[in-house]
Amino acid sequence: MSAGNDGSILVTGAAGQLGAVGRTVTGLLLERGLPVRSMVRLEDERAAALRAAGAEVVLGNLLEPADVYRVVSGCRRVYFGMSQSAGYLEASVTMAAVAREVGVKALVNMSQMTVSQMSIQNTTPSPQQRQHWLSEQALAWSGLPVITIRPTVFLEGFFLPLTGPAVRERGRIELPFGRGKTNPVSAVDVARVVAAVLADPVSHLGRIYELTGPRSQDMYGVAREYSDALNREVTYSDIAPEDWERELNRVGLPEHLTRHLVTMAELNRAGRYDRRTAWSG
Ligand SMILES: NC(=O)c1ccc[n+]([C@@H]2O[C@H](COP(=O)([O-])OP(=O)(O)OC[C@H]3O[C@@H](n4cnc5c(N)ncnc54)[C@H](OP(=O)(O)O)[C@@H]3O)[C@@H](O)[C@H]2O)c1
Repeated sequence: MSAGNDGSILVTGAAGQLGAVGRTVTGLLLERGLPVRSMVRLEDERAAALRAAGAEVVLGNLLEPADVYRVVSGCRRVYFGMSQSAGYLEASVTMAAVAREVGVKALVNMSQMTVSQMSIQNTTPSPQQRQHWLSEQALAWSGLPVITIRPTVFLEGFFLPLTGPAVRERGRIELPFGRGKTNPVSAVDVARVVAAVLADPVSHLGRIYELTGPRSQDMYGVAREYSDALNREVTYSDIAPEDWERELNRVGLPEHLTRHLVTMAELNRAGRYDRRTAWSG
């Protein structure tokens, strides 16, 4: 599949909010000299930056089928990723319907590593994880040429915001993760994988890529890393899960995200984020 005959590569969620995988993928594809259509929700400074970098910027809502049809039309390669939210499954099935109609030749689907441990008999209480699991099922039924990306928790867009403020203000990591180990992956590394697949998808079609970082460690280990990097003592405080949930509710996170985070903590305590995929860096 060459850039010459299959139009622009569509990147959804390109403005970037947390992990900003779509924004980084846009930059990496442009660096390779490939034509990129970046889908954003709003005409703001992030859209202007994408345009200045050389992307064709298109506005649209992934929950609106007509918008999705408009932005996918003319593209044969697509990256599908969107903020974790209640409409995730609807958006991904809408994308699948449109991609079939338009004749997409490679659809890179952002999923989550937890899905690899899920089945009909063994789901999790996180609505986001369930939606990713269902979305992978629906994409498989669609018959589309899909490449599935299953990263573990993102370092920059997720893990650092969860730990950073308490480290800054109180010199403590405050999370209900027990002694569970976790292995965050850089969202930039995830974007590198997505860009490499989009640039030359043929050998990747049908594959599932599980992505972790290089080291799995518990929060005591992470606290030691903070201490070394900041040159001051940072400790880990294994707080009660109920206290954390109360705090998440207090700051007003959407229920969808609160349920996801509470589940993540539970899975961390149970050692389910103690994963490591092959790494040669
Ligand atoms: N964070 C993690 O630790 C982690 C780990 C593994 C997998 N993942 C998966 O990675 C994906 C999120 O990736 P990310 O962190 O790169 O995303 P992100 O930075 O949060 O960006 C997602 C973008 O999606 C856009 N968006 C949201 N709703 C939309 C809609 N209805 N129509 C069009 N655009 C919409 C947002 O636009 P606005 O900025 O305008 O709101 C945002 O820019 C999710 O599938 C998540 O499950 C995340």
